[in-house]
Amino acid sequence: MSQRTSRLPGFYKLDRARRLEVLRAAAGLEDHDADIDRLATSGDFELFDGFIENAIGGFGLPLGIATNFLIDGRDVLVPMAVEETSVVAAASNMARRTRPTGGFVTEVVEDLMIGQVELRDVADPETAADRLRQAESVIVAAANALDPGLMAHGGGCQRIEVRPFPEAHVVVVHLLVACADAMGANAVNTMCETVAPALARLAKGTPGLRILSNLADRRRFAARCAIRFEDLALDGHDGAEVARRVVAAAKFAELDPYRATTHNKGIMNGVDPVVIATGNDWRAVEAGAHAYAARSGQYSPLSQWSVDEAEERLCGRLEIPLQVGVVGGVTRLHPLARFSLRLMQVTRAQELARIIASVGLAQNLAALRALGTEGIQKGHMRLHKTNLALARGTDPE
Ligand code: MEV
Repeated sequence: MSQRTSRLPGFYKLDRARRLEVLRAAAGLEDHDADIDRLATSGDFELFDGFIENAIGGFGLPLGIATNFLIDGRDVLVPMAVEETSVVAAASNMARRTRPTGGFVTEVVEDLMIGQVELRDVADPETAADRLRQAESVIVAAANALDPGLMAHGGGCQRIEVRPFPEAHVVVVHLLVACADAMGANAVNTMCETVAPALARLAKGTPGLRILSNLADRRRFAARCAIRFEDLALDGHDGAEVARRVVAAAKFAELDPYRATTHNKGIMNGVDPVVIATGNDWRAVEAGAHAYAARSGQYSPLSQWSVDEAEERLCGRLEIPLQVGVVGGVTRLHPLARFSLRLMQVTRAQELARIIASVGLAQNLAALRALGTEGIQKGHMRLHKTNLALARGTDPE
């Protein structure tokens, strides 16, 4: 066995077999390591090798289908890539309970990405900010001259915002960009880099960072649903009681950031699996969601729940920034991402975002309904045991 090392010069140039050989030696593994052997023959290596550097294989996640979703009047089968027991079952279960009242109704609140150009060493940031604001139309035209493709698809830079930071002698210019069906990172970053020198001249400063902001608070989507009391009963609690308990659970999240974080984690249990299944950047979506949740200065829940006593319904609404696309990058290159979009019959980024928001709200309801009544462990562990038994090929208890 050779000495362990993390120095693997030229590793990136090797083919899979050689990379695994070098890795085995460098990690001090046995000559016949079952996991290395599995990696040597696992499928899709060429695909993954094209995505990242030093690839040795793929890391599979279960891909499940959430059923029962009725979104804006359309039945949708939702692919979810996730390893956590009960997530897919819970989303499907809650979606079924929303059907008698029409399922989920969604809304595009705003659909613009933010690109940031930082301008440093600005002697008079307030005056510079005024000059930049006055030049808005020229700046927007310059940004749009770069990407006729985006303009042709109904996208493009629409306006700017200027944010002076006088104490730091910094001015930040936001380009507000409609990204059409792309997540938009490439288009926005290119725009920022290209207009930065002109902006710096206007501000009499020097260009600093030029990059999109993942606090995509101008690209927000909302989903609403209502559930009849009679469809909420659980564990000996009647539906009206369950509805009130869900509302109380949501109020706790408004009170306490420690609870709000877990509340939002439950929402992301629904959001991330669809983001992943469609080849989108879930780190970006996560970063944006949590930063948005903290916008008031106190980290808060992304959803709100209330009871409509007259109609005898529980009503929920989720509003969340979603920076997702259906063209470009992994979304187009990964066959399962393409399949996921096909399955949902999604061709536009906004359609995808509407679905993601709905699944997030369904997942949140499942968690609050269980937490407010029988507790999370009972249902969770029931499914967990069943799934493990099925995976092992034994009879579930
Ligand atoms: C577990 O993955 C998610 C929950 O903790 C969410 C919540 O507490 O609302 C159940």
